[in-house]
Amino acid sequence: MKIAMVGSGYVGLVSGACFADFGHDVVCVDKDASKIDRLHAGIMPIYEPGLAELVSANVRGGRLSFSTDLAASIKGAQAIFIAVGTPSRRGDGHADLSYVYAVAQEIADNLTAPAVIVTKSTVPVGTGDEVERIIRDSGTGVQFAVVSNPEFLREGAAISDFKRPDRIVVGAEDEWERGVMREVYRPLFLNKAPLLFTGRRSSELIKYAANAFLATKITFINEMADLCEKVGADVQDVARGIGLDNRIGSKFLHAGPGYGGSCFPKDTLALLKTAEDFASPVRIVEAVVLVNESRKRAMGRKVIEALAEAGVGEPRGRKIALLGLTFKPNTDDMRDAPSIAIVQALIDAGADIVAYDPEGMEAAKSLMPQVAMAANAYDAVTGADAVVLVTEWDAFRGIDLEQVGRLMKSRVLVDLRNVYNPAEVRASGWYYSSVGRK
Ligand code: UGA
Repeated sequence: MKIAMVGSGYVGLVSGACFADFGHDVVCVDKDASKIDRLHAGIMPIYEPGLAELVSANVRGGRLSFSTDLAASIKGAQAIFIAVGTPSRRGDGHADLSYVYAVAQEIADNLTAPAVIVTKSTVPVGTGDEVERIIRDSGTGVQFAVVSNPEFLREGAAISDFKRPDRIVVGAEDEWERGVMREVYRPLFLNKAPLLFTGRRSSELIKYAANAFLATKITFINEMADLCEKVGADVQDVARGIGLDNRIGSKFLHAGPGYGGSCFPKDTLALLKTAEDFASPVRIVEAVVLVNESRKRAMGRKVIEALAEAGVGEPRGRKIALLGLTFKPNTDDMRDAPSIAIVQALIDAGADIVAYDPEGMEAAKSLMPQVAMAANAYDAVTGADAVVLVTEWDAFRGIDLEQVGRLMKSRVLVDLRNVYNPAEVRASGWYYSSVGRK
């Protein structure tokens, strides 16, 4: 089957490469000529484990190509995916749909054979109706349908999420388009991945409801962590104790500095906007957004408290080392990373910050110009008054804490991801503070 993927960003590129790997004939389109040039040269625009290898294998196999020419790329494609960005619109948090609609118009102007147009971008309820209207109003005489097919990939695990999904959701109204989508996902279907057909609006809402629910779960356990600290309980025991109940489930119950990234912050805000537009408030999600936003800066205060309790004193003029800057490991994505608010809170308090992140420093530089970037974790902690673990990269889990302690001015460790064992760390002379644990 020939597939055109319009938008070669995170979602488009991962999906395109995986579809090609299933044996489909895929062309990934992007307006950004330099991105396409780099892809031709085998250079990925993002860091995602396994992606470069998957792309090059499928390019070599002749199933995956790249182009800036939308008109030529959609010729003969039975499925045309829209996978362009839907960033938060400045001012009101609504998803900015201008890229989606521009692509819909361009598809309409160049459609020459029957095709199913699939919205993979995360779009608010009703966007499919508007895409359909744009194409219909263009006067095309060609048969087409617009379906919704949200993606549930996690950065850092995107390829395995794509190939082994919990479910595939397709919002399609009639049998022709369902048949095309069944063909698109046939290899996964054979693997018994549930293919859930719904109406288009339900499918659009499923994406937001899923992300809002996961964001709620994280925020819930984060507030429980704060309570644990006050009452002398351990949040990891609490998470395990509730997570073993199948109705709750143990995933997404890791307390931390708050969720970040390109999805949860943006999608929760967009859901609030939709709820407001339809006069159907979602108060729980409103609370989640507020609690998460204030939590990130509160983590800066946690570091300042640790300095005081450890006897180091005021943060002014102290050197604080941050390990990890990205919103989570295995990505170079800095969007809405908690580290940004933490750094700001510490700089406002007069501290000097040095940081190390395995992949995120390039993107972080412009977001936190006052931070000195170190060549590695050991350089970062040298002479520091405190070290803060912000992102749980594997490399930090196995770090030699004895060596770290020797390099630092004082042994103060704030572990915002509960990576280390409190008893062990304290036994080797550290002042140790973590999240929701005594
Ligand atoms: C999220 C969803 O998990 C995907 O299903 C969805 O497809 C994607 O958004 C999207 O809409 O595109 P992602 O943003 O890549 O994926 O990252 P997650 O692994 O979900 O983590 C999000 C944030 O929550 C991170 O900051 C992470 O550190 C935090 N988190 C996650 C916690 O603090 N605790 C947890 O238990 C889990």
